[in-house]
Amino acid sequence: MLSYFSSNEHKRAKFIFDTIAPIYGLIDRKTQDDYKKMVAMLNEDIPLKGLSALDVGTGTGSWIATLKSFGLSEAHGIDFSEKMIAEATKKHPGITFSHSDALHLKTVNDNSFDIVTASFVMHGMKKEARAVVLTGMKRVARRYVIIQDFYQASNPFIYMLEWLERSDYPYFKKHFADEMKGIFAETKILTAHNGNGLYLGMI
Ligand SMILES: C[S@@+](CC[C@H](N)C(=O)[O-])C[C@H]1O[C@@H](n2cnc3c(N)ncnc32)[C@H](O)[C@@H]1O
Repeated sequence: MLSYFSSNEHKRAKFIFDTIAPIYGLIDRKTQDDYKKMVAMLNEDIPLKGLSALDVGTGTGSWIATLKSFGLSEAHGIDFSEKMIAEATKKHPGITFSHSDALHLKTVNDNSFDIVTASFVMHGMKKEARAVVLTGMKRVARRYVIIQDFYQASNPFIYMLEWLERSDYPYFKKHFADEMKGIFAETKILTAHNGNGLYLGMI
């Protein structure tokens, strides 16, 4: 419990996600419809059939499972919460999952996956950590880095949840598009609904 009050944001985030892993599936159900709509929109821009993808901060695997349902040839998810990985492995037998920290993608070779993606992970980190993670994602991606996360306005309930999570939510929404532009030669934003967007970085 003391970890929740830790000034080490990494330790605090790991504690929070390990704690909520067993009930995270309930939130999954709610986000599933949005994910399907967003991936359908993405698929218009980037046809997913036959591509390989790595999902960073996969949680219980909902985002990568939705991407895979559009025809990915290979899908892998990583997370620093062992408990999230255990839930994901139970739920999605057709996808491989492993325990790994997004800040240290060193075990993944350069240009390993067509797509490297992260859904609702980036807003939880501070700018400096995001830069490290995005740079690592760019290194291991062959074609695209795809970030699914908050964009534009959201409702007060989200503000409250993000405050409890002590995330970087307000700063993130204002500055993340520019952070992407600083790392990728070409970027594009596809907006979806409910204040969420897809940020595409081309390799
Ligand atoms: C809000 S959840 C999103 C889960 C999933 N991507 C989804 O969209 O349903 C954020 C996830 O990122 C993971 N995470 C946060 N920081 C991480 C890091 N440094 N390395 C790996 N996973 C991380 C957490 O454990 C958690 O499972």
